[in-house]
Amino acid sequence: MQTHPITGLFGAEITGVDFGRPAVNPYAPGPEAHPEMTYIVKEAHERTGVFGGGWHTDLSFLDQPPGGSVLCSLEVPPYGGDTMFCSQQAAWDSLAPALKDLLDGRRVAHVGKPYGIKWAPPLEEQAMKGSTKRGDPDADRERMHPAVLTHPVTGRKGLYINPTYALRLDGLSEEMSRPILQELFGHCTLPEHSLRIRWEKDMIVVWDNYATQHYAINDYHGHRREMRRIAFWNEGLPAWAPEAA
Ligand SMILES: [Fe+2]
Repeated sequence: MQTHPITGLFGAEITGVDFGRPAVNPYAPGPEAHPEMTYIVKEAHERTGVFGGGWHTDLSFLDQPPGGSVLCSLEVPPYGGDTMFCSQQAAWDSLAPALKDLLDGRRVAHVGKPYGIKWAPPLEEQAMKGSTKRGDPDADRERMHPAVLTHPVTGRKGLYINPTYALRLDGLSEEMSRPILQELFGHCTLPEHSLRIRWEKDMIVVWDNYATQHYAINDYHGHRREMRRIAFWNEGLPAWAPEAA
């Protein structure tokens, strides 16, 4: 990455930014020319849920979840529509030792349920109707990922669970896992572990999917919001190796 000052006082042009290889969401691809680009649109008349309207880490249900995401705002409501983020590493650091012992070295099953058939909400409750493929059993297939991820760049440990896609702990049923996961989800998203982004038009936010969750706040009924998102694998990072963690 190169930084080129525009004047002697302030401003810089940044070039050579390489986020790596874009990831295509197989269950919610973008338009034909840019399948890797997710168009996130909620129209002013829609009184539905929003894309990303629950705590999640992008595409954690894939065999190789992408390391990061870029989100760009094209049109924002006059108020509302913020995005929350929480640090999975802060959550790990402050976790009770007994829970650390339970999770370290354990795997968690993730499923792409909003895009498949198992728990997909009815179409009338969704914005972006028709943008997600439905009835795809592959989306409901479990992928096992480490509950605790050692970040490939920083070496910091963080939780790698989220309430949208993490279903159960390895070795435990869904029913037995649920109270443990609920406790953990609440811990991850404590205000002390969180930040809130207030969008302006033409803003870009880049985040690390191996260290965070995020949440799109749906509080702007009557106003239009349009975003573009691309998730990416950073080629500079070691390949995702869930079995090794
Ligand atoms: Fe997301």
